Amino acid sequence: MKIAIASDHGGYQLKEEIKKYLVSRSIEVLDLGTDSEESVDYPVYGKACAEAVASGQAERGIVCCGTGIGISIAANKVDGIRCALCTDVHMAEMSRKHNNANILALGGRTTETQAALDITAAWLDAGFEGGRHQKRVDML
Ligand code: RB5
Repeated sequence: MKIAIASDHGGYQLKEEIKKYLVSRSIEVLDLGTDSEESVDYPVYGKACAEAVASGQAERGIVCCGTGIGISIAANKVDGIRCALCTDVHMAEMSRKHNNANILALGGRTTETQAALDITAAWLDAGFEGGRHQKRVDML
């Protein structure tokens, strides 16, 4: 699996931790920046990750900003993207099982690193259930 990952400065540290985790699971990572804690604009990075997923360059994506809110809004502007901001493992599982979320959003300033890694693991491992949920996802 190939995962596109992007953040602004508020999510930079968390992005780096998630990258390490993905590599430890032998998952290929497409890092779209940012590359430091210097202030940048989250819409740029949310869009870049969303376009990588929508175009098929990566199978799924992970985005981080301070809260995960701005960058998830940006990602969801791109056609075909279902970006879910998750603050716990249950939300991560449900975003895959029911919503077939193709991008996970996390908050670098709102979610502890270990919790974010647990959320990431749950999100990577859960699959879409299809069935009645497919019809609803098709309506989006
Ligand atoms: C940047 O200061 C901050 O606004 C951003 O990381 C994010 O939290 C926006 O939703």
